[in-house]
Parts: sequence; structure tokens; C-alpha cells
Amino acid sequence: MAATFASWLQDPARLVVVAEEGGRMVVGFAAGVVLQGNGWQIPARLGRITDAYVARPRRRLGIARRLAGRLLDLLYEKGVGTVRLAAAVQNEGALAFWQSMGWSDLETVLERAVPVEGRDPEA
Ligand SMILES: CC(C)(COP(=O)(O)OP(=O)(O)OC[C@H]1O[C@@H](n2cnc3c(N)ncnc32)[C@H](O)[C@@H]1OP(=O)(O)O)[C@@H](O)C(=O)NCCC(=O)NCCS
Repeated sequence: MAATFASWLQDPARLVVVAEEGGRMVVGFAAGVVLQGNGWQIPARLGRITDAYVARPRRRLGIARRLAGRLLDLLYEKGVGTVRLAAAVQNEGALAFWQSMGWSDLETVLERAVPVEGRDPEA
């Protein structure tokens, strides 16, 4: 993960914002990326929020709200036409957070397990 973060900081398409406490201790972060779409189903310049995380003891203090707001401003400054993100349907806290920020459902991703040894687990 440390190597991944380091590579993001070198990548001009990536954005990372952090919430610090006491100037040194990171208690949360959010990250995004600017992607090239096809201008049709995917906007030509698409912002994607890839991560948002706040340390458990610091949740419900408005930290993610501020992180997401700053990250969105930076994505807009990079000229994105729209911003998307993905959240697991089981992650009720994250969904409630993004909905509270005005985000709404765009598409549903369906998943199906691969049959093992000829047996279809979904059958
Ligand atoms: C989702 C997450 C980033 C929210 O961080 P946070 O700093 O606690 O969020 P905020 O305090 O800014 O919340 C702002 C508003 O979002 C909503 N909200 C946030 N977490 C919520 C939860 N668990 N349940 C219901 N609503 C929630 C509330 O409306 C909240 O306002 P309120 O506290 O005044 O009621 C944090 O819970 C987290 O790190 N979760 C684990 C990682 C994760 O799932 N990331 C998202 C991946 S898409």
C-alpha cells in the first residue's frame, strides 16, 4: 500500500488529500484520478474517486465531508466533466455518506460466482 501511495504522488493524473491531526498524524485520506473516457457512455474527461477513508475513532466528525469536498474541487480544477465512484452495496455507511453528499445511483454491477467442478453454485 505504501508503494501504491508513493506512485500516486508521482502521477499527475492522481490526487490525494489527507486529514492531519496535530500537523503530523494522518487520520483520513481521499484519492481520485482523472481518466480519459470515450465521450459517449463515459465522459471524455472523467473524474473518479478511488478511495475515502477515515480512522474509526475519528468518524462522524465531518472529516470525510471536508476531504471529499476538497478532492472534488481539485478534480473540477483539472477540468473533469463528471465524477463517479463505486461503493459496495453492503457498505451501508459509505452509501449513506455519499448520499448525504448528494450522490445518487448510476448503475448496478451484477456479479455471479464461477461454477466449480461442473457444479453451478447459483443453480
Ligand atoms: C465512509 C467514511 C469515509 C465516512 O467518513 P466520516 O468522516 O465518518 O464521514 P462524515 O463525518 O464526514 O459524515 C458526513 C455525513 O455522512 C453521513 N454518514 C457518514 N457515515 C455514516 C454512517 N456510517 N451511517 C449513516 N450516515 C453516515 C451522515 O449524514 C454524516 O453527517 P452527520 O454525522 O452529521 O449525521 C468512513 O465511515 C470510512 O472510512 N469508512 C470505511 C471506508 C469506506 O467504506 N470508504 C468508502 C468507500 S466508497
